[in-house]
Amino acid sequence: MRKPFICGNWKMYKTVAEAVAFVEAARGLVAGAEGVEIGIAAPATALKSLADAARGSNIRVGGENCHWEKEGAFTGEISPGMLLEAGCSFVVLGHSERRQYFGETSGVVNKKVKAALAAGLDVIMCCGETLAEREAGKTALVVEGHVADGLAGLAAGDLARVVVAYEPVWAIGTGRTATPAQAQEVHAGIRELLARLFGPAAAEALRIQYGGSVKPENVGEIMAQPDVDGALVGGASLKPDSFAKLVNYR
Ligand code: 13P
Repeated sequence: MRKPFICGNWKMYKTVAEAVAFVEAARGLVAGAEGVEIGIAAPATALKSLADAARGSNIRVGGENCHWEKEGAFTGEISPGMLLEAGCSFVVLGHSERRQYFGETSGVVNKKVKAALAAGLDVIMCCGETLAEREAGKTALVVEGHVADGLAGLAAGDLARVVVAYEPVWAIGTGRTATPAQAQEVHAGIRELLARLFGPAAAEALRIQYGGSVKPENVGEIMAQPDVDGALVGGASLKPDSFAKLVNYR
């Protein structure tokens, strides 16, 4: 059975002080969540303090992005090893905001995925179509392209440390969630593709999160879908009580 993974993605929100205060408030609220993996991806400046504050809790801390090189002349960038040292155990890669605003292609995402895994980080790799792509009937084509290109060159064994997050761009921060049926359809397609690429066992074991306007009110119906194994949550992950409700969705 796949263990559900509920992960916050704070994006460019929270100072160090705010991040620490969040964990101090949230850790007790989520301590009793059995059989659920819990994570928070946070801005780089807050990671070390966040990881220190989360130590001994069941909350994993991750980066929101990283570079593919170990070090070098890449002003403004952070390496996978630097995230590890700060206390991260995973990193979110290929988020649509990275693709949209920072020109990240699936080729770049693929280099980052390989580097992060090699450094010892788990990876949440995002995929998802825009509204125009969905309306043009290209959802499967776009999503499968993101997944196949982003994970190109990986071995089936590497997939044990990869989570795929399906985040339709039109549902991110808009309050417009994909219906459970829409999410399930795309998730099932992703799993079929993974089975073709990496074999049925690896595909069956890999977790696929849904992201896009997930809230305490709708997390239950989304999580009830057979191929939805978690949620990647932006806005509703920023308050401890809302985050705890998401984690304790059952
Ligand atoms: P919202 O939950 O704010 O729609 O953001 C989703 C997201 O992009 C998570 O990575």
